[in-house]
Amino acid sequence: MKLWGGRFSSGQDEIMRRFNDSLYFDRRLYAADIQGSEAYAGALHRAAIIDDDEHAAILKGLAAIRKEFEEGTFAEKIGDEDIHTAVERRLSELIGAPAGKLHTGRSRNDQVALDLRIYLLGVIDDVTSALAALQNAIIRKSEENLRTIMPGYTHLQPAQPVLFSHWLMSFFWMFDRDKDRLADGRKRTGVSPLGSGALAGNPFRIDRRELASALNMTGVTWNSMDAVSDRDFVADFQFAAAMISLHISRLAEDLILFSNPGFGFVTVAEAYSTGSSLMPQKRNPDSLELARGKAGRVVSGLLNLMVVLKGLPSTYNKDLQEDKEALFDTVDTLELVLPVIKGVIETLAVHPERMAAALDEVMLATDMADYLVEKGLPFREAHQLTGQAVRLAESRQVPISQIPLEDLGKISALFEADVFKYLDFKRAIEKRAGIGGTSESAVRQQIHEARKRLRE
Ligand code: ARG
Repeated sequence: MKLWGGRFSSGQDEIMRRFNDSLYFDRRLYAADIQGSEAYAGALHRAAIIDDDEHAAILKGLAAIRKEFEEGTFAEKIGDEDIHTAVERRLSELIGAPAGKLHTGRSRNDQVALDLRIYLLGVIDDVTSALAALQNAIIRKSEENLRTIMPGYTHLQPAQPVLFSHWLMSFFWMFDRDKDRLADGRKRTGVSPLGSGALAGNPFRIDRRELASALNMTGVTWNSMDAVSDRDFVADFQFAAAMISLHISRLAEDLILFSNPGFGFVTVAEAYSTGSSLMPQKRNPDSLELARGKAGRVVSGLLNLMVVLKGLPSTYNKDLQEDKEALFDTVDTLELVLPVIKGVIETLAVHPERMAAALDEVMLATDMADYLVEKGLPFREAHQLTGQAVRLAESRQVPISQIPLEDLGKISALFEADVFKYLDFKRAIEKRAGIGGTSESAVRQQIHEARKRLRE
């Protein structure tokens, strides 16, 4: 017998049953569903809709059902449309009549909205911890490489020398913003819609505020029609997740490139690599390629939800059942990807000598221009003249430092012997000592701030 079977005279077509059922994916909400029902039973009891015995029986029954789920012994039956139906059906098997009172004034519409919020609060906390663990690994690897110099790129072309730690720490701040986004969404998630009924509210003098605090939520929703269809908090999470996956994907791309033998800056540990079934020499960074590839499904999860919500009529519509599978897939993806990337970073071998070998003096051309600026030339002119020096070096196929001073003098009389001091990678790095720059002191300061952020 369906929960809603009263007004129906014929059964459901089998294909319709399969189309309509959501238990096979929303069973993962069981803990949230039971927690919500325990709180709701408390509210019904306080409103004198159930008596002490009924309340006790309901709580005992719900505890037993939780145990069945935890132990994997919960037996699903045909007719269990979704997790809410399944729990209610089982409760009536266990305790009989009082189970039928638990749904007084409550609809699956406010129930599922609540369940999803409870579930997401836990997820947000887990993802935040996983991000923090990854950030920790980033800091530690950066500290091990505080003085390692590598080429910095723009347009993927050699640009200016930077510290490897500076490059790696750049990702710390991306994940820091991701955690901010999660925390911001968390505020809107921790609000209780329970007591909104199907759409119009609850007629049984339920104390919604008390109910919310029993659920550890910070407040109540203020419009029942909004509350039963609001999935903005899911979209908030999906957006934060999409950004996380983009950041992971960019980190993965850099590491894939840097681990290419042509670069050879880093080696991805065997534990995070795979071989080829055909080419015996191969060692592929599959961990990173998968991490990069997974961004596609996470981003599509956000898109999936937004398209479901777009143009939806007011209040609950069954379309909303489609909010969950993409969300769960995103959660599962993040819960795998984040520890994998953390492991890749922790076990990454760094090769400073390969980075040093890839440093090209042209990356110091800006410093040469800065030299002329210090001698009083406007930067635009200095840029022009240094460009000529670069062209000369290129035509002779020598590094700039190999151009005799007298030839440089023909480009500008301002070039003197001390210009060659500017053609030094370490010096170029140490010069950039302002906040957020790549000098060792600035990177140390950055790491100090990063640690402070992590402790907050
Ligand atoms: N399984 C449904 C969902 O996920 C629960 C709410 C059903 N409400 C309803 N009126 N049929 O959205």
